[in-house]
Amino acid sequence: MNIFIGSKEECDLKGAQEIVNQIKNKPNTVLGLATGSTPIDMYGNLIKKYKAGEVSFAKVKTFNLDEYLGISRDHPCSYYNFMQENLFKHIDIPQDSVHLPNGEAADPEEECKNYEKLIEGSGGIDLQVLGIGHNGHIGFNEPGTPFGSVTQVVDLTESTINANSRFFDSPDQVPRQALSMGIKTIMQARRILLFAYGADKAEIIKEALKGPVTPEVPASVLQLHPDVSVFLDHEAASRL
Ligand code: F6R
Repeated sequence: MNIFIGSKEECDLKGAQEIVNQIKNKPNTVLGLATGSTPIDMYGNLIKKYKAGEVSFAKVKTFNLDEYLGISRDHPCSYYNFMQENLFKHIDIPQDSVHLPNGEAADPEEECKNYEKLIEGSGGIDLQVLGIGHNGHIGFNEPGTPFGSVTQVVDLTESTINANSRFFDSPDQVPRQALSMGIKTIMQARRILLFAYGADKAEIIKEALKGPVTPEVPASVLQLHPDVSVFLDHEAASRL
């Protein structure tokens, strides 16, 4: 595991450069992407690099980690909408190359199986971007999720609902379930970039990177992956 510690700006730039290098080496890269506040400025750097002619996403495919269950793609808080606003609509990626689980699927279990098959059929994820929840979740894999889990319907914990309520008008409006890649799905990515910023992530970063590997801290599984790069600002790294 490589751990880079710098300013948030340095992390956002270095992370974006890693992704650009990956796409230059393999133009038809399959990217795994995350939502949340953490990757927004890193995605902003990808947009700048695209506009500067440094990279094209024309052959790239993307698979997002997760989507809320029961809200439409057009809902302002859907992860589909988040990705359009923060990345996809600003770059040259074809719309049919971007994938998120369908939060409105008539049969969510079937949707999860199909999503997993679609990832496999694309040759697997070359590079997965991750953030981390305060309870150690990656994707929406909350503490206790088995390491062998694949894409599935998950119940969100109260802490995740409260954390995500900042994007909604009130906590009541946050969906209680989501479709999320599983821990095994994430671990099958060939490379993983994990980003964490701010003092409020310091404790969980210490537990995830230096503590025991346990389903109680889902991100601790990353200690078992052969190619993980972690990007931390000084505050998030302050307990290491
Ligand atoms: C997002 C996701 C989540 C977030 C995590 C951190 O697609 O799967 O695991 O990465 O909740 O969120 P932020 O970045 O908002 O602190």
